[in-house]
Amino acid sequence: MGPGDANIAGNVHGGVIMRLCDEVAGIAAVRHSGQRAVTAAMDRMNFLHPVFIGQLVTVKATVNAAWRTSMEVGVRVESENIRTGELVHTSTAYLTMVALDDEGKPAAVPPLSPGTSVERRREKEAQLRRDHRLAERERIEAARGEETAAQAGAPGGGSSDGS
Ligand SMILES: CC(C)(COP(=O)(O)OP(=O)(O)OC[C@H]1O[C@@H](n2cnc3c(N)ncnc32)[C@H](O)[C@@H]1OP(=O)(O)O)[C@@H](O)C(=O)NCCC(=O)NCCS
Repeated sequence: MGPGDANIAGNVHGGVIMRLCDEVAGIAAVRHSGQRAVTAAMDRMNFLHPVFIGQLVTVKATVNAAWRTSMEVGVRVESENIRTGELVHTSTAYLTMVALDDEGKPAAVPPLSPGTSVERRREKEAQLRRDHRLAERERIEAARGEETAAQAGAPGGGSSDGS
């Protein structure tokens, strides 16, 4: 990491790390799907430790789960003090990437076949995150629906001509 990556505190800017995560997740998604892929969401980005200017950053990504057209990619960021060799796990991120066909429409991706216990654990946890995400979206939509209905039922609510 060089001076151009610094924030005003002099450490590496979080946005620089996020960009690296996005790029590497994209590569993992393209490799798995054999198609181009876009970022649908960065579901989670944890900054566990700061990264300092002068450190070497390594970003590793793996496809944790594949659904119909989307994949969850887990990304691990490590910083290395190149003088001492000390390695620190600084960030973890989970991104949802969607494969696209030549017309830019979501395209089916190959299933994953997790072979090891670690791969099975990652797939299970990815499924949990997806289930939570979808449940959260449903709850928010339901709450919005209730709010709209309450406004329509309130005095002065309803039709735009005030009747
Ligand atoms: C991602 C995108 C292709 C999805 O398009 P869409 O019309 O919503 O497509 P669909 O409803 O068919 O959803 C396709 C898949 O994306 C997933 N998806 C869509 N929006 C999502 C979101 N916000 N978070 C997580 N997954 C999402 C759906 O769950 C679905 O997954 P599945 O097929 O595995 O079940 C579209 O929203 C898009 O092009 N976004 C912009 C992407 C981009 O420019 N990224 C770079 C950011 S600068």
